[in-house]
Amino acid sequence: MAILQFHRILRSVCVVLVFLQFSSLQLPSLGYVIQDKYFINCGSDSSVNESGKVYVGESTLKTNFDSSYTESNQSAVPSPLYQTARIFGKESWYKFNTDPNESYLVRLHFFPFPPSSNLSSATFNVSVPGFWLLQNFNTTNATNSNSALVNEFYIQITSPSLRITFRPLPSSFAFVNAIELFLLPLHLIDDQVARFTYGVSTPDTSPYSGGLYSRVLETKHRINVGGQTTNDNLLRKWIPDDTYLANRENAHNSSPYNDIKYRANVDSDGPNANLFTAPTDVYGTAKVTKNMSTNASDVEYKLSNITWSLPVEKNTDHFLRLHFCDFFSLQTDLTVFNLSIYDVHVMPVNNDANVSSVLPAPYYYDFVVLSDDSGFMRVGVTPGASGYVHNAFLNGLEIMKVIESSTSVPPDPVEPNSKHKLLVVLGSVVGGLVLVVVVVALGFLWHLKLRKEKPVENSDWLPIPVTAGGSSHSRLTELTSQGSPLPNINLGLKISLIELQSATKNFHASQIIGKGGFGNVYKGVLNNGMTVAVKRSQPGSGQGLPEFQTEIMVLSKIRHRHLVSLIGYCDERLEMILVYEYMEKGTLRDHLYNTNSPSLPWKQRLEICIGAARGLHYLHKGASGGIIHRDVKSTNILLDVNLVAKVADFGLSRSGPIDAQPYVSTGVKGTFGYLDPEYFRSQQLTEKSDVYSFGVVLLEVLCARAVIDPSLPREQINLAEWGMHCKNKGILQEIIDPSIKGQIDQNSLRKFSETVEKCLQEDGSDRPTMGDVLWDLEYALQLQKGANAIPREPYEDSSSSATASLQLPNVRRLPSLSTLSEADDSIVRGDDTIVRGDDSDSAADSVFSQLKIDDAR
Ligand SMILES: *[C@@H]1O[C@H](CO)[C@@H](O)[C@H](O)[C@H]1NC(C)=O
Ligand SMILES: *[C@@H]1O[C@H](CO)[C@@H](O)[C@H](O)[C@H]1NC(C)=O
Ligand SMILES: *[C@@H]1O[C@H](CO)[C@@H](O)[C@H](O)[C@H]1NC(C)=O
Ligand SMILES: *[C@@H]1O[C@H](CO)[C@@H](O)[C@H](O)[C@H]1NC(C)=O
Ligand SMILES: *[C@@H]1O[C@H](CO)[C@@H](O)[C@H](O)[C@H]1NC(C)=O
Ligand SMILES: *[C@@H]1O[C@H](CO)[C@@H](O)[C@H](O)[C@H]1NC(C)=O
Ligand SMILES: *[C@@H]1O[C@H](CO)[C@@H](O)[C@H](O)[C@H]1NC(C)=O
Ligand SMILES: *[C@@H]1O[C@H](CO)[C@@H](O)[C@H](O)[C@H]1NC(C)=O
Ligand SMILES: *[C@@H]1O[C@H](CO)[C@@H](O)[C@H](O)[C@H]1NC(C)=O
Ligand SMILES: *[C@@H]1O[C@H](CO)[C@@H](O)[C@H](O)[C@H]1NC(C)=O
Ligand SMILES: *[C@@H]1O[C@H](CO)[C@@H](O)[C@H](O)[C@H]1NC(C)=O
Repeated sequence: MAILQFHRILRSVCVVLVFLQFSSLQLPSLGYVIQDKYFINCGSDSSVNESGKVYVGESTLKTNFDSSYTESNQSAVPSPLYQTARIFGKESWYKFNTDPNESYLVRLHFFPFPPSSNLSSATFNVSVPGFWLLQNFNTTNATNSNSALVNEFYIQITSPSLRITFRPLPSSFAFVNAIELFLLPLHLIDDQVARFTYGVSTPDTSPYSGGLYSRVLETKHRINVGGQTTNDNLLRKWIPDDTYLANRENAHNSSPYNDIKYRANVDSDGPNANLFTAPTDVYGTAKVTKNMSTNASDVEYKLSNITWSLPVEKNTDHFLRLHFCDFFSLQTDLTVFNLSIYDVHVMPVNNDANVSSVLPAPYYYDFVVLSDDSGFMRVGVTPGASGYVHNAFLNGLEIMKVIESSTSVPPDPVEPNSKHKLLVVLGSVVGGLVLVVVVVALGFLWHLKLRKEKPVENSDWLPIPVTAGGSSHSRLTELTSQGSPLPNINLGLKISLIELQSATKNFHASQIIGKGGFGNVYKGVLNNGMTVAVKRSQPGSGQGLPEFQTEIMVLSKIRHRHLVSLIGYCDERLEMILVYEYMEKGTLRDHLYNTNSPSLPWKQRLEICIGAARGLHYLHKGASGGIIHRDVKSTNILLDVNLVAKVADFGLSRSGPIDAQPYVSTGVKGTFGYLDPEYFRSQQLTEKSDVYSFGVVLLEVLCARAVIDPSLPREQINLAEWGMHCKNKGILQEIIDPSIKGQIDQNSLRKFSETVEKCLQEDGSDRPTMGDVLWDLEYALQLQKGANAIPREPYEDSSSSATASLQLPNVRRLPSLSTLSEADDSIVRGDDTIVRGDDSDSAADSVFSQLKIDDAR
């Protein structure tokens, strides 16, 4: 009776706790919101409310000018924001705090207010470290107009702060009226894009080498094709296209359409647009080709193209983004037309399986294009082959100049009395740093021990800089100066023990779905109905506090469609509990061998490998960057209800650069059979160790057998060795999983096995990056799709059927046409339906599935 009563109280407490908990837990799922930092009203200490944003006075910022003066004039100024300007007689900077390795937007507003001032005579440069944003810049052009010059840049910032420096030219001065700097949504622009090369005999779309994140982009044109001037949710201004239309007679505006089906998940990449890519006003209007025929007996549509011609700098790389939204067709695959750049065919545009099947789905293609010496960029759409709907259209267009880094930018001078001095000292005693970490860790363990003896319900952790990157020392000093790294990870992810007890029937054995060195994993249902996997540590388990913290720090920083999401954690009463999204379909291994699950078809396996590769690529190169998983294996690749792969278990993961220091490795970790032999020998951990392990997973997927199988003859025990042996002997065919043997296209298999071979190279430096692996796997998938695509009526000649079926799901990395010719020889079979689109929408949020941890560790 008393117990029953207690439970009742417990439950009501839970309800309150859950309510409190989830009011904060909901926050991350809202995704991106534009931050208030930094909207700066320069030359002023007062705030101005302009287009819904409050631009605050610049005194909130760190600057190096104290006595520079401001000017102001109330007359004939379009906005209060432009009533003041900061004027610089000498080199001056503003310093902004930033999150390292994130993409930022920077906008500089210049309004040379007339007529009493002489602002328009200012000539100056503006720079950020490594890049000239503006050179020999003046505002003479803007003097007579009544609007400000706004220069906008996308910058991938690698350091925890950014200085924007104004450099007046000799005997001149510089000024600025307003500055905006804010974090962009994830994947607004990705690092990897295709470069379109048109001047050569075979036009080519190969990856843009070096990626966009090592450059700065400067907005040149943002065009709402067929529509009106509009501002979007990132305060970007879109303008109509008419003045850029080269052949206006061929086109008409389509009437606005409002019910655009955006991709809900704003944090993942892919060709589908989300609501930050471009607004409804842009996707809902288009320029469409006119039927040029005047002869009523013409059944055929008379072909006409629409071409836009936009002024750009000559012979300079430009980032080109083309926005499409087919709200004309009732179903996918009905409209196909050609896209051209400088009148050279680029690709067929088609709302096909790569684009969401929920129509009308907005999508976009990105290219980097070198402008020619005409001073214009020409982009055109031409109605496609007969048999399809006869429209060609374009909804939006963005052109940004690619600014390369420049060594002529003077480096930021060292700030006096700052951390830098400390850094120099610290930098020279890296060994000392390691010692500090060890001492801190030991101190913590000691603390923990004390706490055990004297139980207190207190959950503060000591700072351990596990995520420190290239600037690990600065991180440490920052941590100590700010007290704790936990503000970073607290993020409202904390879940009370009492709720987890209620979610897992007080950690009842019937709820166990996995066991690992760390402890048990339970299935649970949170009070809001969300099904989760609850990973609870056992006291004295192999995986300890540092791993626990690593996992929270790493996971709370990153969200990616192909990485298992952390829902929360609990650290009450010496508990170390992590709560993840539940992965319905279990581990990849569960679908390969020793299983009752039906055998997965080859194409599905490829898609799973691609998903996992994306996840790992993101860990290595994505927003947080430089994270090495260290335990890649088929049981750490989980599948959701739609068989979308997600990489799990970052308990061992480390940021790369730590180990690049003479870091005293605490011993090789990982799982036998997947372990990189080079890492094993040298104890030097690099991203290439993950690549090796992933290569083993690929073999496992191909052969559907255990990576270590002691029951087999000696030379076959280790799958990696045996697989390479067979590949070299040319008998790989013989060890392929018999249930998929018949399905694999030979070209696809060749590409796949080459990829495996590259991953398993002895020397880490000979192995590809995860990005390359991803690329190769996508290619293998395209070869496979090419082999069993439905033959399409109008594309019976081999060359066009190849281009039609070879649109990659992610157009940012189009293979070069020359390499595509391999696909032309492949057999065309009509038995396979093309898998529809990107299922991220349907998979979103609602479905959580099972997380399993094996005890192989
Ligand atoms: C700024 O102005 C908008 C309307 O223009 C208003 O809705 C908003 O509340 C104002 N913000 C502040 C902080 O005054
Ligand atoms: C502002 O401009 C007007 C002319 O438009 C001028 O008469 C006035 O003196 C200026 N005010 C200041 C403070 O410079
Ligand atoms: C122009 O502005 C600079 C800086 O404000 C000032 O030093 C200079 O005297 C001005 N020149 C004229 C002609 O007003
Ligand atoms: C301002 O810049 C333009 C080019 O951007 C240049 O043609 C012009 O001469 C410059 N004006 C002055 C006064 O320096
Ligand atoms: C100023 O206008 C001229 C012609 O209108 C143009 O060529 C030049 O690039 C413009 N300069 C700037 C800095 O915008
Ligand atoms: C401004 O930029 C130009 C072009 O890069 C450079 O030659 C000049 O030295 C720079 N001037 C200053 C003061 O930074
Ligand atoms: C219209 O098309 C028909 C068939 O293509 C052709 O015979 C006829 O001459 C055309 N009429 C004109 C006015 O072009
Ligand atoms: C194009 O226009 C001609 C003449 O107006 C018409 O007969 C023909 O059906 C149209 N073609 C299409 C595909 O709409
Ligand atoms: C578009 O049409 C113009 C003539 O109207 C032609 O010169 C150009 O080559 C065409 N472009 C394409 C890609 O067909
Ligand atoms: C579209 O491009 C394909 C491939 O280059 C070409 O065969 C076809 O003729 C083009 N269609 C039009 C209408 O230009
Ligand atoms: C940012 O990325 C660069 C390059 O990937 C890496 O060297 C650096 O350590 C990263 N910095 C942080 C703080 O993650």
